[in-house]
Amino acid sequence: MIGGVRGGRPLGLSAYSHLRTCAHRRCYTPLNSNVASSGLGNVNSYRNLCLIDGRWDMRSSCVDISLKAQILRHGFVFLPEHRCTETGTELAQSLGDLLRLGDGEPVHQLVINKASDASPNTYSGIYGDGEFPFHTDLAHWVHPPRFLLLRCLRGFEEVPTLLIDAFQLVDQAGRELLSRALVKPRRPINLRLPLLRIFRTIGDDAALFRWDDVFLQACGTSGSQGMQAVRENISATRPITVKLARRGDTLLVDNWRMLHARSQIPPGCESRCIERAYLGGIH
Ligand SMILES: [Fe+2]
Repeated sequence: MIGGVRGGRPLGLSAYSHLRTCAHRRCYTPLNSNVASSGLGNVNSYRNLCLIDGRWDMRSSCVDISLKAQILRHGFVFLPEHRCTETGTELAQSLGDLLRLGDGEPVHQLVINKASDASPNTYSGIYGDGEFPFHTDLAHWVHPPRFLLLRCLRGFEEVPTLLIDAFQLVDQAGRELLSRALVKPRRPINLRLPLLRIFRTIGDDAALFRWDDVFLQACGTSGSQGMQAVRENISATRPITVKLARRGDTLLVDNWRMLHARSQIPPGCESRCIERAYLGGIH
């Protein structure tokens, strides 16, 4: 239950000032910039509020606007226990354009590994079952995949996924600085070390923010200043938490906008298993 909702009866609208209304003014989702200050950083605790026949009701998703519109507006969409009977591939293909990256399966499973059991050039190889730092996936690629799909096969309340909105970081660190800030992969990709910008606009209505403090390194003064500014603002930001705890819990993330991190794996949660896929676009 969200504060202010008792037995489905609404309080005054001021009680929902930390929420954003959908286009039809019926459904309310969190205003990211205010989630932290409101103390309501756990998305699972409120999801969406819908005004149904004059009464407030909690709904798993807004029925009035498309998934694409929701993710473009908020940067992510959480779909609790979503279409559990479908395979990961069926679900991914129904949501968007499933990408095949490299030789692996387009939909693959993420399991918990000890650092000693994982490749040294992966987060698991570096952090093992510890907390992963905030990043965007494949940030060292020239063209990172746009959307990241995470789906729970076996999850735990104790292992939330954390999100930070890069729009907020760009506002805080300075759009001009981050647009100039150059970074490059720590290791060559196809024998090349391309120069990449932390933040760049694409056309009139899209932008790409990339962040990985492990697999990217700064180039020059502006790169160092940009990376330091982002680090400081990440540290000062209270993230949004999403719990992929129940089978079918699905999180769709705009990987050009939202940073994500995995929290530490406490004892007893080592069997966590999450499906991951990348989508080039949303239907
Ligand atoms: Fe990731």
